[in-house]
Amino acid sequence: MVDMKKIVSLCKRRGIIFQSSEVYGGVGSVWDYGPVGVELKNNVKAAWWKSNVYGRDDMVGLDAAILMHPQTWEASGHITSFADLLVDCKKCKKRFRQDQLKDKKSCPECEGELTDSRKFNLMFKTSIGPVEEKGSAIYLRPETAQGIFLNFVNVLNSSRKRLPFGIAQIGKAFRNEITTGNFTFRCREFEQMEIEYFVRPDDDQKWYDYWVDERFSWYSRFGIDRKNLRLRQHKKEETAHYAKSCHDIEYNFPFGWSELEGIANRTDFDLSQHAKVSGKELVYFDDEKKKNIVPYVIEPSGGVDRALLAFLVDSYHEEKVRNEKRTVLKLHKELAPVKAAVFPLLKNKPEIVEMARKIREDLSGDYNAAYDDTASIGRLYRRQDEIGTPYCVTVDVQSLDDKKVTVRDRDTMEQDRVPVDALRKVIKERLGER
Ligand code: GAP
Repeated sequence: MVDMKKIVSLCKRRGIIFQSSEVYGGVGSVWDYGPVGVELKNNVKAAWWKSNVYGRDDMVGLDAAILMHPQTWEASGHITSFADLLVDCKKCKKRFRQDQLKDKKSCPECEGELTDSRKFNLMFKTSIGPVEEKGSAIYLRPETAQGIFLNFVNVLNSSRKRLPFGIAQIGKAFRNEITTGNFTFRCREFEQMEIEYFVRPDDDQKWYDYWVDERFSWYSRFGIDRKNLRLRQHKKEETAHYAKSCHDIEYNFPFGWSELEGIANRTDFDLSQHAKVSGKELVYFDDEKKKNIVPYVIEPSGGVDRALLAFLVDSYHEEKVRNEKRTVLKLHKELAPVKAAVFPLLKNKPEIVEMARKIREDLSGDYNAAYDDTASIGRLYRRQDEIGTPYCVTVDVQSLDDKKVTVRDRDTMEQDRVPVDALRKVIKERLGER
């Protein structure tokens, strides 16, 4: 298993992830995605959207706002229940989550005496409007799910979907996490990919089992080794206040098995709570029963940043090639930030440079293609291996005559000559695209 330090260093070196506001010393547990990282992140989100929205007739998408009416969080229980129990060290003044301390009586850092525990709400609070006054308090959403519940009737009436059906959403969420660290695993600003799948109350267990299975398989379909994935059922005391049951999909990160995604049976908790607090009817007319019902909800909820970190860790390989170390990300091709990189073998030959640039332009009609001539060919290959580029295309002197280029495969490192005219089609086929 790769050391986290290697992942962090690769991310910085290759423009995948940078610390937020680094020039000012950084903001704790907030991260920026660089030129390569943003492509990887977009590809992770697109793969999820394609599988869960485009690939299904029983799902529609949504993009709700981050700021929501403050009563949302009263109804959802987040104001009272979305809190960690904290203790402070009376000596060194450091703050800890009580549930993460082995010895509940003394400070893990200086052995000082700890205060009694108190509740700390994880939501970021701000104010809306020109004056900060009573009643202007508003929160940055700590989960995207509530935007789906509040739009349940809007989506139902406009899409005419019948049960069972789901609403999928990808978006930012914010939590003022106390225990941070482990790179992007636990951030204060992050993205979630959430589905609220509405079902008839009697069918909840069937759909719960279905989504646990479906979401588990999704990660391995996109390249994660099954032996690094496991399912863990929540114990009663750790199950969220809104859930009847919950399973976590865990990944074997370098820092240990940790949650990648949770699948919860939220029952009718949220729709009923919002109906009660808002006074609006949030119901579904059941044609079979000829009456209004409040659907149950199965919620697969994953984190974009955590999925991306797992894809990075799992695809990271170091190999010995001709006595030299090769670092390569063997990412699923659909997730690879750059699909093909084009190099001129000789950058002082204008015809070769022109041909290579033209090829990049042509390939970029299908996907993200890169051009690079800033190092020797060996170094150019190494750079692309490190970000998981599936194909490298080299234009050489012979290419000017025979109109063929060398295509190198990231995983096998095998090379073959491909006619320039057929290149776009050949790479598309090798990428598994039609
Ligand atoms: N709507 C349900 C919900 O939010 P959760 O288990 O608190 O449930 C769901 O969060 C997923 O969101 C987690 O499995 C994780 O992937 C991601 N997530 C939660 N908190 C996170 C954080 N601080 N940093 C990064 N990802 C986080």
